[in-house]
Amino acid sequence: MEAVEAYIEKNRDRFLTELIEFLRIPSVSADPAHKEDVQRAAEATKQYLLQAGVTQVNVHETAGHPIVMGSHVLAKDYPTVVVYGHYDVQPPDPLELWDSPPFEPLIKKTKIHPDGAIFARGSCDDKGQLFMHVKAFESLMQAGELRCNVKFLFEGEEEVGSDNLEIFCRTHKDELACDTVLISDTAILDNNTPSITTGLRGLSYVEVEVTGPNKDLHSGVFGGAVANPVNVLAQMIASLHDEKKRITIPGFYDKVLELSSEERAEMNKAPYDEASYMNELNVADLMGEEGYTTLERTAIRPTLDVNGIWGGYTGEGAKTVLPSKAFAKISMRLVPNQDPDEITELFSKHFKKIAPSSVQVKVTPHHGGKPAVTPTDSAEYAAAAKAMNKTFGKDPIPARGGGSIPIVSLFEDVLGVKSVLMGFGLDSDDIHSPNEHFGLYNFYQGIRTIPYFYHYYAGEND
Ligand code: BES
Ligand code: MN
Ligand code: MN
Repeated sequence: MEAVEAYIEKNRDRFLTELIEFLRIPSVSADPAHKEDVQRAAEATKQYLLQAGVTQVNVHETAGHPIVMGSHVLAKDYPTVVVYGHYDVQPPDPLELWDSPPFEPLIKKTKIHPDGAIFARGSCDDKGQLFMHVKAFESLMQAGELRCNVKFLFEGEEEVGSDNLEIFCRTHKDELACDTVLISDTAILDNNTPSITTGLRGLSYVEVEVTGPNKDLHSGVFGGAVANPVNVLAQMIASLHDEKKRITIPGFYDKVLELSSEERAEMNKAPYDEASYMNELNVADLMGEEGYTTLERTAIRPTLDVNGIWGGYTGEGAKTVLPSKAFAKISMRLVPNQDPDEITELFSKHFKKIAPSSVQVKVTPHHGGKPAVTPTDSAEYAAAAKAMNKTFGKDPIPARGGGSIPIVSLFEDVLGVKSVLMGFGLDSDDIHSPNEHFGLYNFYQGIRTIPYFYHYYAGEND
């Protein structure tokens, strides 16, 4: 493995230069105006894979954005790893809050990243982490050290629900046959505390529309007599949590898997400093479900959040109006064993039930996803833990993640395999936010660690 390390050392500047080029492509999957850019990112991903030495690479067109699949099958008796990642990124808005343009990558030092971090949309989520895999593979190939079959599966629709990847997995089940799936799309606890994500929350996402009168009205002439849908929506949303910050939807918690007090004590051993947590976010206090710690609230407990709310007059100055309609987008993060379709149904029923008869309510479900848990007693977990120990000098901590990657549970259902969530970002890297960044230390740690994963997974001991 010295040859692998030496290759990485020798090529580190080029790896970064190439990543910068990749990050320049604004592959925003949610925005139709960027459709061609997403396509361009797929083509670029294909070229990087070919350049890394992957024998067979195809860009599969779908009803949405393309799926890039690379296949490098060496021997029947080698273990087979599917590497999943996504080359699409979140929209960069609000643009005015970025200190440098989101698609003009810039390297800057920060308190947490003294060696520098690369600032760009997608740097951490997930183009930078996907790129680590390409470069780790290239390094293994150049050193002649690869003893696994590797199949790369890179999609362009993760941030919009992975609808077409789901279809693709079902129709290409045989081509995707593997022993495990390796994913770097999560975080470590901090740069001195490696961790492996052992669970992800699921997601139920709905849009609600509340309609009052059939047109916008003069708020002086009609206000006080006709229901104002914005007032009503605000009240309905407020009622979805009780004073203990528990969700009031009947049946919502019925299937929630409660952890034992031992498991809870174990997970609360992870490093967490409340004062600096609040300080980083500039909040004077925290808020969440009574009886649970921050680490629990963001990992093993379900939540309900309004992601956006609008209606009525929001332009310059004041316009007196009683609006006809009000809207909100609401997400619920789910934990094992909650089912997204069931939860969406419970929400929908409850939301209609609590609406006063003076308004009409419409609930439209968006994409969702099932929660996932991954084992710590598997061969792949052992290989990942050993690899991280090698490069960080200590064993990783198993930790649940609060975000969602719905495709993980699908891999389980369709391919019949568990995933290893070995990510290298940090929760403070501002993914989905302005000024997203990825530490150079993290980028290179990823490139160094991934080859050891293959090494140990193939059965090597040191
Ligand atoms: N990489 C994230 C998920 C993530 C982030 C997991 C941090 C664990 C820690 C992924 O790209 C993402 O943002 N997923 C979406 C869900 C999707 C259905 C839009 C999410 O979690 O909101
Ligand atoms: Mn991601
Ligand atoms: Mn994301």
